[in-house]
Amino acid sequence: PAKLDKAVSSLDWLLGNWESVEPGKGSYPSLKDFRYTEDLHFAQMGQPIINFMFNASDAETKKILHRECGFIRMQTGTNRVAFIIAQNSGLVEVEEGELVGKKLSLHTQALARPSFAKEPHVKEVSRVFQLQPDGKLEQTLSMSTDKQPMTQHLHITYSRLA
Ligand code: HEM
Repeated sequence: PAKLDKAVSSLDWLLGNWESVEPGKGSYPSLKDFRYTEDLHFAQMGQPIINFMFNASDAETKKILHRECGFIRMQTGTNRVAFIIAQNSGLVEVEEGELVGKKLSLHTQALARPSFAKEPHVKEVSRVFQLQPDGKLEQTLSMSTDKQPMTQHLHITYSRLA
């Protein structure tokens, strides 16, 4: 593969393939707690962009529950990061935020869905990706819907696949 474009070189620590070490924890006031596994793939093709794909499955049945894919861009000369995301639920999102060290904090900047998307409708998403000192990657995600205020939905830790 081509060398990582310098526009996104400060995100080089994300590149590659990751898999949940232990099942992640899903929760929400309106849901029964659940456990899930997830693999993450970050790749580059010489553009000033990182491509990503996330696949999450039910920890017991292995059924795929949630998928996201998209692109990561950075504003030139800054630590501003944008995720451009499509989700299997129909949600499309731009999340923006800042990279500080190996911690990436993102929040919904724009959001859209099909006219017939199922309810409740997501209003905002906040998430943090953080590289831990032991080399594992952690993601925490909160969201609000038209029924619930901002509340944690997901917490999971991944290790890098060889
Ligand atoms: C339910 C959003 C990621 C698993 C939901 C609901 C929403 C939602 C709005 C319905 C909540 C309610 O009924 O009050 C999102 C968003 C995500 C995301 C915005 C990412 C940005 C995930 C991931 C998993 C997951 C990665 C992992 C398996 C579930 C499950 C339910 C659920 C099991 C309950 C069953 C269902 O309604 O399908 N999610 N979710 N979600 N989510 Fe997520």
